[in-house]
Order: sequence, then structure tokens, then C-alpha cells
Amino acid sequence: MLERLFGSFPPIIQMLRDDHKAVRALFARYDKADKGEKPQLAHRVIEELTLHAKIEERVVYPALRAAFKESDLVYEAVEEHHLLHVLLQELSRFRPGPGSATFEAKFKVLRELLKHHVDEEEGRLFPKAEAHKLDWASLYEKAQMMKKQPQVRKKRRVTNHKPPRARAA
Ligand SMILES: [Fe+2]
Ligand SMILES: [Fe+2]
Repeated sequence: MLERLFGSFPPIIQMLRDDHKAVRALFARYDKADKGEKPQLAHRVIEELTLHAKIEERVVYPALRAAFKESDLVYEAVEEHHLLHVLLQELSRFRPGPGSATFEAKFKVLRELLKHHVDEEEGRLFPKAEAHKLDWASLYEKAQMMKKQPQVRKKRRVTNHKPPRARAA
């Protein structure tokens, strides 16, 4: 395809690749961060990944499913997202947070699962998508709109503090 001849990707694919890169950088920062910085970095990983996954699920994957004759790669990606969401939900609620053995184990599994998932997207799914004639401009516009919606970019705080208990009536 023409864009690939010039070494660039369709804008939405470039955006998704940039998201992957940004999350990889956050994980790398997390490794070197001290105890005080880890909750904020973990929160950013969870927030960025949640938004990224929602954009793929609502905008990108449906377009690919419609365009592909064989959608097995898309179905596999959806199942991997399901597992990612389970971990993201658990990590956002888990107390105590970063530094505790269980949180660190869950965070590590999230990273491993994400690495596999991103390798598949960048190595197989996105190149397959680029071989199709899609309405790239409209997909990019929809993704940008989602990035601006505050209800999509839902805040989830990761702290080391227990949430206050509900008072008994
Ligand atoms: Fe994905
Ligand atoms: Fe992705």
C-alpha cells in the first residue's frame, strides 16, 4: 500500500503503536522507580491500557472483523483483551498496591500477557489490516474522539492505602 512505501503507517495504526511504546516506557520507568513513585506509574499504566483497549475494541477490531474474510486473529485479540481487563480491574482495586508480593506478581503477569498481545498485533494483526482498504481517516477520528471523552478515560487510583470501610448502618 502507498503509505507503507514511504515507511509510515495509517494514522490510527501509528497511534496504537505509539500507545504500545508509551506503555512499554512506563513499565521500564516502574522498574527503576522508588516506592513513592510506583503507585502513580502503576496508575498510569492501568489508565493508558484501559483506554487503549477500549479504542481497539470499539473502533478498530469491529472494522477489521468486517474487512477480514477470516477473523480468527481478531477473535483471539478480543479474548486476550478479556484477560487483560481482568488483571487491570484487579490491579486497580488491589490493596496493598505496588511493593506487595501479590500486586507485583499480577503486574508482572499483565506485562507478560501484554507483550504477547502486542507482538501479535504489531507482527500479524496490524500488517494484515494495512493490506485492506479501510476508511483510515474515519477510524482515526473516532479514536481521537474517544481519547477526549472523560467517561472513557475513567480514573482509577492505585494507592497503597486501604479504601475507607463503609460504616455500619
Ligand atoms: Fe489489543
Ligand atoms: Fe494494542
